[in-house]
Amino acid sequence: MAPSDPTQTPLGMLALRTIAMPADANANGDIFGGWVLGQMDLAGSVAAGQRARSRIATVAVEAMTFHKPINIGDLVTGYATVAKTGRTSIHIHVVIVATRRLTHEEVRVTEGTFIYVAIDDEGKPRPVPPA
Ligand SMILES: CC(C)(COP(=O)(O)OP(=O)(O)OC[C@H]1O[C@@H](n2cnc3c(N)ncnc32)[C@H](O)[C@@H]1OP(=O)(O)O)[C@@H](O)C(=O)NCCC(=O)NCCS
Repeated sequence: MAPSDPTQTPLGMLALRTIAMPADANANGDIFGGWVLGQMDLAGSVAAGQRARSRIATVAVEAMTFHKPINIGDLVTGYATVAKTGRTSIHIHVVIVATRRLTHEEVRVTEGTFIYVAIDDEGKPRPVPPA
């Protein structure tokens, strides 16, 4: 799958696919931003969990941009890339591509950086293992 603008940064690993449903829409009939954020957090958590090889917790979200709306019925695909790691933190860049229901046009709709912390069984930060 290619982004609508091929000059943009790579999409990353496929981390999530779902369909935007009427219950996820706001009063304008577009998909609610909070729902999109939740899907992005799920997509990012897949990559962060694989990198951490442990439990993780979302600690912050940075640089969120909603480029275009998601419509009811769009196929919503989440891609995730490990942007950087710290001692206990993992920064994941998440891109959402919407495939329009009737035209099948692929549109890069949203992106942002989700920061996760590797945690132990007590919920305390633990070091990220070597890659
Ligand atoms: C995640 C959590 C365990 C971290 O505990 P903490 O005591 O704040 O840990 P620290 O201060 O040592 O920070 C841990 C790492 O997160 C980073 N971090 C913490 N707050 C951050 C922020 N606002 N933005 C960016 N990075 C942040 C720190 O820089 C550190 O990174 P490093 O080890 O790579 O240098 C704790 O904050 C927590 O439980 N938060 C709630 C998580 C949650 O409920 N998320 C939603 C559901 S998953």
